[in-house]
Amino acid sequence: MAINRRKFVQTAASGAALAQGAFAQSPSKTPSPNDRIQIGCIGFGIMGQGDVRTEAAIPGVEIVAVADVYDGRLTAARERYGDHVFTTRDYRELLARPDVDAVIIATPDHWHARIASDAMLAGKDVYCQKPMVQKVDDGHLVIDTWKKTNRILQVGSQRVSSILYAKAKELIKSGAIGEVHMIEAFWNRNSPLGAWQYTIPPDASPQTIDWDRFLGAAPKVPFEPVRLFRWRNYRDYGTGIAGDLFVHQFSGIHFIMDSLGPQRVCATGGTYFWKDGRDVPDLMLGLYDYPATDAHPGFQISLRVNFEAGGAGGAESQGFRFIGTDGILNLSVGNALTLSKRPRQTEPGSTAETFSKATAQKILEEYRRKYPPHEPGFTPLTEETYPLPRGYSEQVAHHQNFINAVRARKPVVEDPVFGLRAAGPALLSNISYFEQRMVEWDPVNMRIKS
Ligand SMILES: NC(=O)c1ccc[n+]([C@@H]2O[C@H](COP(=O)([O-])OP(=O)(O)OC[C@H]3O[C@@H](n4cnc5c(N)ncnc54)[C@H](O)[C@@H]3O)[C@@H](O)[C@H]2O)c1
Repeated sequence: MAINRRKFVQTAASGAALAQGAFAQSPSKTPSPNDRIQIGCIGFGIMGQGDVRTEAAIPGVEIVAVADVYDGRLTAARERYGDHVFTTRDYRELLARPDVDAVIIATPDHWHARIASDAMLAGKDVYCQKPMVQKVDDGHLVIDTWKKTNRILQVGSQRVSSILYAKAKELIKSGAIGEVHMIEAFWNRNSPLGAWQYTIPPDASPQTIDWDRFLGAAPKVPFEPVRLFRWRNYRDYGTGIAGDLFVHQFSGIHFIMDSLGPQRVCATGGTYFWKDGRDVPDLMLGLYDYPATDAHPGFQISLRVNFEAGGAGGAESQGFRFIGTDGILNLSVGNALTLSKRPRQTEPGSTAETFSKATAQKILEEYRRKYPPHEPGFTPLTEETYPLPRGYSEQVAHHQNFINAVRARKPVVEDPVFGLRAAGPALLSNISYFEQRMVEWDPVNMRIKS
């Protein structure tokens, strides 16, 4: 592969410019006391703890309350943030507190819609983890409550706040790769934690866990800690690969392409490797047909996530390819954006030599009259790379976007309508997989058509 080195060096420099933009994420002013924001976290597990760490590092933001159904996580909250932090098993007690301005919701998926709605009705702004909802209808409930209460709600697919995504959007909009009719996204993993085999603490018991509060509206089943600590493996609480990971890919594609969503959804997959009792696939592929809109001429996408990908790692682990009529944009998540172009051939070529000698000669003479021989016949590939600046965090940028919106009462980058447009096709992928059929979606009104 020929790489145009001059271009590469040039654009490594533009990566530095990108870096300066990145640090616009640090707030420039000291917040006044009025800017002080007190947050509560509901669901203090892996992501809840990550979200609190990020948000509490923003000047003027403080964690004051945590709700979780497992006592060990409440103890962990007090260990990390002090005994003054209010802790409870019942999130409604947290929502009732006037000292909580905004909440992070990082529970299993089956609780998102209910807690987000309760939080907005209690007057709180909400940072709700993805997927926004476990069921499409719940998405409309969240949107209606959001409109009625006039609260801020940011969905937690943090990558849409990445400067790489913004750059990809700008390049595609400017026509840098021509018209885009095909997009691929992939996510390869090859580890137990990557396949959701999380640690089950030895003190898990009906005494340390509020089992009924974990189950919520899910079917009543006897106490079984694996269902709580590895909830993603069960359809009753999670949304499988599609809701957990396709949703990030949909969010990225919708943001970059200014798209509302697909009209047809088809998914396949299987549980091939992690036969650990899970009732969801460990490998999934999806195909989606996006209709033409004012923003783009329509395109096809393919998504694939594989939890048994031997050798997965580095740029191979996660990315997108936007394939345009004039070039390809490779987005290696958390790493770099690369724009590759090879000018289209200036002559059509000919298969005349497969015909009889006389016919071939006649065609080639005509061909050369029309296309005289010229140099060079080879068109080189050029690549421009925009590396992500060292230390840049889209997680910080996304939470900063939320906190800025809470302070200024302005829109966030990923509101509930965006959230349902990303979650909807992900949830339809599960319908397609489990019912073995194509599913139709109305991307404007966000409803299942058939
Ligand atoms: N944006 C991202 O990149 C990202 C990454 C990981 C997880 N997530 C999302 O974050 C959410 C949490 O995932 P996780 O990996 O942290 O799971 P986790 O199991 O580590 O944490 C979930 C926590 O919620 C608690 N919980 C369960 N039911 C509850 C209830 N009714 N009230 C209060 N707490 C309750 C559990 O005890 C647990 O501590 C999921 O929706 C997941 O999709 C997002």
